[in-house]
Amino acid sequence: MRTITLINGDGIGPEISDSVVKIIEASGLKIDWDIQTAGADVIDNEGVPLPDRVLESIKKNKIALKAPVTTPIGKGFRSVNVQLRKDLDLYANLRPCKNLPGVETRFKNVDLVVVRENTEDLYAGVEEQIDNDTAHSIKIITRKASERICRFAFDYAIKNNRHEVCVVTKANIMKLSDGLFLEVFREVAKEYSQINAREILVDNLCMQLVQDPTRFDVLVLPNLYGDIVSDLTAGLIGGLGVAQGANIGLDCAVFEPVHGSAPDIKGQNKANPTALLMSAIEMLKYIGEVAYAEKIEKALFKTLAEGFKTQDLGGNLSTTDFTAKIIENL
Ligand code: NAI
Repeated sequence: MRTITLINGDGIGPEISDSVVKIIEASGLKIDWDIQTAGADVIDNEGVPLPDRVLESIKKNKIALKAPVTTPIGKGFRSVNVQLRKDLDLYANLRPCKNLPGVETRFKNVDLVVVRENTEDLYAGVEEQIDNDTAHSIKIITRKASERICRFAFDYAIKNNRHEVCVVTKANIMKLSDGLFLEVFREVAKEYSQINAREILVDNLCMQLVQDPTRFDVLVLPNLYGDIVSDLTAGLIGGLGVAQGANIGLDCAVFEPVHGSAPDIKGQNKANPTALLMSAIEMLKYIGEVAYAEKIEKALFKTLAEGFKTQDLGGNLSTTDFTAKIIENL
């Protein structure tokens, strides 16, 4: 039986994790979940929000499914999510974005993939208070990290029969940092002549995405733009409740939805488990359990197509009722 690390998270995390574990179990696939807690809830007992045991578990099992963990805004501890990605060198954040059956949206043929650099940029956490009225954040872009994420995007495009990779920067203004990312992209692109290489500035991208997202295929972006743009692309397919993601490194991979811990609906049995479930489906494909992944995906799509939805998608089902419908369709 395969052992997989499960981080239940906080906020809506435990509710959606519970749903996904039950659905996988109902599919007939046996997984030995190595449950690890992290975030504010463990600080009192363990002193830190991301104890070593969590990292050790993922290093040992190589694969984790992660529900969201709250990060205090403006003060408090550093993001568990950012730290996890950095400590495990999960350099590629992959966020596919495709219409789902039964989920009405403005655009019908959205099928694009956001490839976000996951380890540096303004998320490196290098900040300093200059004086009471001034603070600095340092944007770090390196050739090494830029090269491997651009290469990842092109390799992904080839493996998944995509035709284009578009690099997204603001290199007209940040000529050195974004300029380096763009320069490296151009060099890497030369090695992939079968894939079209395109360039766009991030502000223009946002405008074009909301006008017609079908103009885009694979996008590769530095960390901050990738974070923001992937929430925008989530909105194109029905919102954060359905947007899946994965953090991939050389040794380990952590699958997690795009959304956060949604404290506004915590404990109300309202959360949509689809984003975490879609992340888990990708995880199962990644570890070679393709038949089970497809079986679960089919049941999820059937449930949505039949009109059974949680409130974020305009439906009236609770998390547990939606979960029960998917299990019924399995
Ligand atoms: P959020 O993604 O948690 O919520 C934004 C809005 O989307 C809220 O109205 C929420 O109710 C809704 N939403 C999100 N997921 C949903 C779901 N599955 N079903 C139905 N509705 C859903 O973003 P917010 O409020 O900015 O962040 C809350 C916390 O989550 C913060 O502490 C943030 O740092 C953390 N966060 C954690 C992430 C992670 O663990 N990977 C990623 C993003 C944010």
